[in-house]
Amino acid sequence: MTVKISVLVSGRGTNLQSVIDAIENGEIRNAEIACVISDKKEAYALQRAEKHGIAGIFVNPADFSSRQEYDQKVLEILKEKGTDLVLLAGYMRIISDELINEFKNKMINIHPSLLPSFKGLNAQKQAIEYGVKMTGCTVHFVEPDLDAGPVILQKTVPILESDTVETLTERLLVEENKAYREAVKLFVDGKLEVDGRIVKIKR
Ligand code: GRF
Repeated sequence: MTVKISVLVSGRGTNLQSVIDAIENGEIRNAEIACVISDKKEAYALQRAEKHGIAGIFVNPADFSSRQEYDQKVLEILKEKGTDLVLLAGYMRIISDELINEFKNKMINIHPSLLPSFKGLNAQKQAIEYGVKMTGCTVHFVEPDLDAGPVILQKTVPILESDTVETLTERLLVEENKAYREAVKLFVDGKLEVDGRIVKIKR
């Protein structure tokens, strides 16, 4: 069976690209990207989708009067595409509980810190300013509370004294891209078992 993946984006889309590449080079088998949905017309991620023959769909927030209505439209597209797994890859919109609950344990996000530290925006800056020596990224299932769902996997990255937000972000991104495709592969291969907050990886 082919797992149909839909990806929600707002920007550059390196994590989307990592998953596309892993599917194309056979690292992730039995999966396809059904569509890429963006809330930003100019998102580079939409161009990445197009380059790989994937439907890129811009859903304009200005056309909807509430978050619920917007997400209703997104849900309609996700269902129409037969989505089995939703990936958030740099999607900057808050998602309504209704949409999240439709995809319980089937919606995954990546965040650029070792959660539960440094939730929310500018996690790299938060980590530098706090003075931690080690940060990283977290791939997790999405729950209504922001950046709080069950953790699938994490990778660590040291913070150097010479780091700026830009240099740290760049090094983190390399690990993020690896972590995301690894997590998607585990999902697609049916190796993730969720028990409350705990995600076990079947060996
Ligand atoms: C990444 O840092 C991710 O952790 C965060 O948003 C950024 C998206 O980057 N959620 P990209 O669009 O995948 O390149």
